[in-house]
Amino acid sequence: MAVRPVRIYGDPVLRQKAVEVVDFDAALRDLVADLRDTMAAYRGVGLAANQVGVLLRALVVDVPLEDERHERWTLVNPVITSRSGSESGEEGCLSIPGIYEEVTRSRHIAVTARDENGQPLNLEAEGYLARAIQHEVDHLDGVLFVDRLSILKRQFLRRSLEAMARGEMPEDFSPPVPGGSR
Ligand code: CO
Repeated sequence: MAVRPVRIYGDPVLRQKAVEVVDFDAALRDLVADLRDTMAAYRGVGLAANQVGVLLRALVVDVPLEDERHERWTLVNPVITSRSGSESGEEGCLSIPGIYEEVTRSRHIAVTARDENGQPLNLEAEGYLARAIQHEVDHLDGVLFVDRLSILKRQFLRRSLEAMARGEMPEDFSPPVPGGSR
């Protein structure tokens, strides 16, 4: 298991659509373990395989709850089967460091997926967990949270995003230092 570098805005892999996982094999379990390690090292609440340069439909989320418990899920081939309600909340993304904006998402979702061993699972989520899953499923489709902002907001962010795509980080941004492999 290892921490893999997180791909940053401008990397074409973030704009590609990931493909369904067919083989629930050791390579997939390694990928999932690395996604978890990488998410933890960067202190993220979610990570999709695209973000480490792998175009497979796999994601992990680790959402802290109010009482210090966590909602931790590994979702392979996730499909959002129903949505209801609508809620605005702040989002960021390990691939778009330093930018945080309000995004409107469905408040409740139902998801079908498999775990890394191929076992089917059904999940209902609301609030922040639902938001994190929707954000990560978007990644698998090559969609980033900044795509879901108003035209005005996107225009406001355009220069920062273009600079990031050229490899220039915001001045106030110190890159997260992953904890190395373990
Ligand atoms: Co993200």
